[in-house]
Amino acid sequence: MSIQEKNSGSTPVEAKNREYFTTITYGCQMNESDSEHIAGQLQSMGYQFTADIHVADIIIINTCCVRESAEKKIYGKIGELKKLKTAKPDLVIAISGCMAQKDKEALFKKAPHVDLVIGTHNIYQFVENIKQIKASKKKVLAVGEEGERPSPAVPAVRKGQVSAWVPIMHGCNNFCTYCIVPYVRGRERSRPLEDIVTEVTELGKAGFKEITLLGQNVNSYGKDTPTNADFADLLQAIDQIDSIERIRFMTSHPRDMNEKVIEVIKNGAKICEHVHLPVQSGSDTILARMNRGYTADHYRRLVEQIREKIPDVSITTDIIVGFPGETEQLFEETLAFLKMIRFDAAYTFLYSPRSGTPAAEMTEQVPPEIKKRRLQQLMQVQNEISLTINKQLEGRRMEVLVEGTSKNDVHKMTGRTRTNKIVIWDKTQEKIGQLVEVMVTGAQTWVLKGQIAN
Ligand code: 5AD
Ligand code: SF4
Repeated sequence: MSIQEKNSGSTPVEAKNREYFTTITYGCQMNESDSEHIAGQLQSMGYQFTADIHVADIIIINTCCVRESAEKKIYGKIGELKKLKTAKPDLVIAISGCMAQKDKEALFKKAPHVDLVIGTHNIYQFVENIKQIKASKKKVLAVGEEGERPSPAVPAVRKGQVSAWVPIMHGCNNFCTYCIVPYVRGRERSRPLEDIVTEVTELGKAGFKEITLLGQNVNSYGKDTPTNADFADLLQAIDQIDSIERIRFMTSHPRDMNEKVIEVIKNGAKICEHVHLPVQSGSDTILARMNRGYTADHYRRLVEQIREKIPDVSITTDIIVGFPGETEQLFEETLAFLKMIRFDAAYTFLYSPRSGTPAAEMTEQVPPEIKKRRLQQLMQVQNEISLTINKQLEGRRMEVLVEGTSKNDVHKMTGRTRTNKIVIWDKTQEKIGQLVEVMVTGAQTWVLKGQIAN
């Protein structure tokens, strides 16, 4: 998924008689979820959220280090905060998340105006760390190792009103050779099934309509717990919760996704017909070098099975171009694979060497200009496929969950189909959080245009 900067919510207009915090989040949905838990802790201390960094007394940058481009962007943002700190010395600047876990005290050297560096395993210690900084006026480095401290349940302050993220597990055991995630987020730790069911039930009672179960590899949920409950069991249990309308999940791993899960998606009333299944490459040589644990043909058969069992399912993927050793011929294999599978959408990335990962040490690194050219080629092929698939939806009525007003036009509303396609239509009487029927009138590569049909 793309690296985005998110800082949303309303800024209070009341007189400034209390203290405010803001969170700026980069990276994946897991980071979004972590930021909601950070916000929960700060609110419990009496701080209030603001979207305005000039008003904030605490600024938290929750970081990503999956690619170098993300890190550069984040360091740029941290640099921008220097003038705010100079103007307001009491301002607390905290850097949390994956980059904090990776760079540790080096972050203070690169950015001396930072007050707190707090790693992924310390995310639940915001209260004590903020108190310590306020009392001592000294910098704090809180980057521990996995399992050093138990993670207490911390209430999350959710940004949306309709959809909520629910982490079902943390960490990753896969060690794909390009990936930094297992080093900064530790080994897989599944949450107990009952805790997840309770959280989703509460979210339903609070009015949330859609939940997305999050994990680096959701299909390996439960393997580290003493019970026999696996991901299929979890999905089935959540499908029984009355107040929730839609269940999503990500990310699925092609090696671990199995028939049992496909059956549960097929039979579950609320489980959405969308599978995000990163393939990363269509070449067996590259997949082996990536340590992905499957072949292109295994993936093809899996997709066949999913499409056979779940009518109208949408399948999206992630692809890395320019992995070390990717020759022109091996890249062509990925292009051909894309044309054969025909994904609804693909998130495409330039391979970015991450220090400490095996792939960064591999010889045969691909020059940047070749990577860029391949990315363009790949995107062009995929965009045509996405457009053709979306065009086939023209004239169809689709169930859409209303998410809000379109960012670009207040007279338009936006939402998603069960297959996770974004739809934009002319506003009528519909309310946020409502399920409506929309007639698709026009298709684009990433968006469907429509009209309310009921
Ligand atoms: N370089 C480029 N892309 C990467 N991803 C993970 N690590 C790297 C890297 N070093 C991509 C993968 C993954 C997505 C979240 O980010 O495609 O699925
Ligand atoms: Fe990274 Fe692979 Fe784990 Fe995904 S499955 S987080 S790509 S190591």
